[in-house]
Amino acid sequence: MINQDQFDNLLVEAENEINNGADAAVLYHKYLGRNGKFSTMIKQITTLKTDERKVVGEKAKIIKNRLNYLLQIKTSSNQPSIDLTLPADLTAHGHQHPIETSIARLYQISERLGFVAAQSPEIENEDNNFEFLQIAKDHPARDMQDTFWTVDGRVLRTHTTAFQQNLIKNNHPPFAFVQGGKIYRCEAEDATHLSEFHQFDGFAVAKNLTFADLRGVLFQLIQDFFLRPVELRFRPSFFPFVEPGAEIDMKCFSCTGRGCRSCGYKGWLELLGCGITDQEIIASAGLDPKEYHGLAFGLGVERFAMLYYGVEDIREFTRNDPRFLEQLV
Ligand code: DAH
Repeated sequence: MINQDQFDNLLVEAENEINNGADAAVLYHKYLGRNGKFSTMIKQITTLKTDERKVVGEKAKIIKNRLNYLLQIKTSSNQPSIDLTLPADLTAHGHQHPIETSIARLYQISERLGFVAAQSPEIENEDNNFEFLQIAKDHPARDMQDTFWTVDGRVLRTHTTAFQQNLIKNNHPPFAFVQGGKIYRCEAEDATHLSEFHQFDGFAVAKNLTFADLRGVLFQLIQDFFLRPVELRFRPSFFPFVEPGAEIDMKCFSCTGRGCRSCGYKGWLELLGCGITDQEIIASAGLDPKEYHGLAFGLGVERFAMLYYGVEDIREFTRNDPRFLEQLV
């Protein structure tokens, strides 16, 4: 016949095992599992008379609670302990995105060259973005730039060059401004193209500015950005708002001009567009184009960052995978 002592003995036996370091999960199974010792004993309680059943039942309940309690403590003491006196594990700090870092560096470098940071809106009127810069409605240059329009006829700027009109109309030359920021294009995305990316533009107007000033400013800016000796060349190119217009190429530093995959086997990498502001633009701002000249340039920040950091796929910048971004801090 099952009795109270047998339950007491069960507890003693279990306590011994617990104290001797047996595994908590094994003991749990052995004592409190479905076919464990406790279950086997409690089943026999039905053979007792009612008044005895009540007394032994009470005892069984206490023993079971105690066993449960001891095994729980045993389980939690198997967990790795926490040393509360250790210095706190501080949450990791975030860091600037490499594109933001690149824009900040470009501002820094151009400020040293005498430029002042300016800002124009991302949602522009058509005039600032196109007409003032002589990009006519039916001009082929508009195809790539015919992008996102608001219902009231404004456009998400397609280049940071859109800041020129307000600058030249609201500032008395000599002046020199730069702006970095986001722009929007009609572009299929691939390893070298995004439809939303960043540009950095410069615009200076003064008496006696020449192409030599443009060259001096840009060669210094590029050199300071890449932090190594670079070999650069001008290549004639067309942009509706400059005359003459040019692109600057940099000798590929992976192959030093021999031709490789990074430069498409050309030996040179296209870096940016630039030129001397078209005289009609100077005149349309009420300045005498014989007296005043402008220099302008515009570059793709992602392109500069790819070359600087050695990134092969421009889309990495927008995937926001910390494993990628943290390498570029
Ligand atoms: N806005 C031109 C583009 O998005 C780049 C550019 C070329 C800017 C020549 C300039 C410039 O200021 O003079 O392709």
